[in-house]
Formats: sequence, structure tokens, C-alpha cells
Amino acid sequence: MKIAVLPGDGIGTEIVAEAVKVLNVLGLPLEMETALVGGAAYEAYGHPLPEATLKLAKESDAILFGAVGDWKYDKLDRPLRPEQAILGLRKNLGLFANFRPAICYEQLVGASSLKPELISGLDILIIRELTGDIYFGQPRGRRTATDGHFPGAEEAFDTMRYSRPEIERIAHVAFQAARKRSKRVTSVDKANVLETFQFWKDVVTEVGLQYPDVELDHMYVDNAAMQLVKAPKRFDVVVTGNMFGDILSDEASMLTGSIGMLPSASLNASNQGLYEPSHGSAPDIAGKGIANPLATILSAAMMLRFSLNQEASALRIEAAVQKVLAQGLRTADIYSDGTTRVSTREMGDAVVKVL
Ligand code: IPM
Ligand code: MG
Repeated sequence: MKIAVLPGDGIGTEIVAEAVKVLNVLGLPLEMETALVGGAAYEAYGHPLPEATLKLAKESDAILFGAVGDWKYDKLDRPLRPEQAILGLRKNLGLFANFRPAICYEQLVGASSLKPELISGLDILIIRELTGDIYFGQPRGRRTATDGHFPGAEEAFDTMRYSRPEIERIAHVAFQAARKRSKRVTSVDKANVLETFQFWKDVVTEVGLQYPDVELDHMYVDNAAMQLVKAPKRFDVVVTGNMFGDILSDEASMLTGSIGMLPSASLNASNQGLYEPSHGSAPDIAGKGIANPLATILSAAMMLRFSLNQEASALRIEAAVQKVLAQGLRTADIYSDGTTRVSTREMGDAVVKVL
């Protein structure tokens, strides 16, 4: 089983190192190869997604990804910015189905900014379409300068677009995921204003006819943003487009106490996948050894489950994470009185020890 390890920028290297440590104690025949991506790759090769990195990713069964980005690259021409690496990987590998679970761990109920009764037992799965929408619309703008900015320009634009097959395939993913859960799907759109999302709603409804056992409802994105903080447990599987999914998944992640806890998976049609924490590169705390590695460790568990067919090992990792939380170990982002504050490495070591 071949894994491309792409730590990236900021806290990416620290957190991925802990996940690799965890993978190494499972006794599985894993072949891991590391490559540069994002700002780190730009520094070394002048491109955020060098040919060699893309080739390694394509040849691997799965990609373990850290995070990319740093404010210091804000002046670069857009195609050279670190974020283009993750967008390029998604597009080139056809990773259209993004799973972003938001699960509230019982031990962390107090870490959320919402009242415990609102989030205790929360288990939402956001399914975000990842290779279409306004993220990949053409044309992408009208630039007057080469540094990605628009001095003196009169307008800029991005086009929102979805094709029928793109919506159909993500709708199938959502209905099938719902069948394994509580058989409810909420499709989030903006059909009251945008043609693209009236079309989205129509196509999801059509696909839904093939899943009579799954209950489907529709919600406008603004209302969904409100309901997520008002009554988050009303949701089970949420399916939405690339842009709305980007925003709602960040919102949902904070319901659980910390974005530092949440893994994600991005899959293509042949279950090849990219696995990354839901959070970003956090340059402000990079190198301090305080980042929470659990989202990345849990992403490694998702990788074993979805792309490598190692459910038992995935469950072992998830149980080990529960156990270190039960031991009271906390990185700074989830620390509260009465718990033990640990570093990035100590948290990884604790998971390894349990395993
Ligand atoms: C995410 C990130 C990315 C996105 C950025 C880094 C391009 O915010 O994975 O949610 O917008 O998709
Ligand atoms: Mg995002």
C-alpha cells in the first residue's frame, strides 16, 4: 500500500510527522514516500505542485496531506500560490467527494462555544463537492497585474457552474452515505437566487427518487448557516457545492470545540483519496510544537478505512484517540481546567503508546 506523504507548510510538517508515527506502529505493509507541496515546494522548485509531487500522488493509493499556505505568499501570482497545490491535486486526481465529519467527542463538550445540550452527541457528515462550482469556473478573472492583484481594474469575476453528471455523482455519494447512517440528507443550495443552485436542487431531487428509503430535504445556505448554530443536531448528512461546503464545514467544525480535531477525506471514483485535517496551516503557531495532531491522525484512520481497506486498523486508531482524551491529555486548542496540557509530539506519543 503506497502512501504519498505531503506535509506542506506551517504546522503541516509537525502534525503529519505524528500521523506517520502512528501509521508506523500498526504493523501494516505501508510504503510511505514524502514530497514537497505548497509554499515549501514553491521555495524549492518555483511551483506549489511540482511535476514530481503530482506524479507521486497519482501513483499512490492514498495521500496523507498536512496543510498549505502562508500570508507571505499573498503577493504571488495566483497560479503560484500554495493553495493552488491542493486545488490542483483535487482536480488532477478527480477527488470530487469531500467528507467532512463534525463529531463532538463527549470529553470535549465543554470546549465548544455552544451550550453542551446543543452539541452533546453531535455527529454530522458534510459532503462537499470538490472539483466544480465557482472554484473552477472559467474565465477566472481579468487581471491587470501579474502579482494576482487588480490595480486600476474596473471589474473582476468568477463564474459559478455545475454540470448534471457532477451533481449526480455527488448526490449518489450522499444518499449512499446516508443509508449507512440515519437515512436523512439535507441538500444545501441558494435556489432562490442562483440558477446554478436551482439546477443543483432539481438534479439532487431527481437522484433522490432512486433512494426512496432516504429522506431528502432542501435548505438555503443562509438558513443552513443559522440552523447549524441554532439546532445542529437536526442535521445528519449535508450535501452541498464546493463554495458553500467550504464555508459550512468550517462552521460545523467549530461546533465540536476545535477544528483541530476534525479529519477529512477527498475521494475519486476509484476510492483513491487525499486525507487531510479540516484546518489550515496556521502559520501563527507553526514551529511552536503546540498544534493538535489529532485531526491528522484521525485523517490517517479515514485513509485506512476508505482507500486501503483496513477497517480494523482505522478503528484501533479512533479508539486510541478516544483513550488519550479520556486520559485527560489536551493540546492548547482543547485545553480546559483540570486537564493535562501536552505538546504536538506528546499527543502523538500518547496515541502511539496506547496502540
Ligand atoms: C479547504 C481550504 C481550501 C478550499 C483552500 C486552502 C484552497 O479552505 O480545504 O477548505 O477553499 O477548499
Ligand atoms: Mg476551507
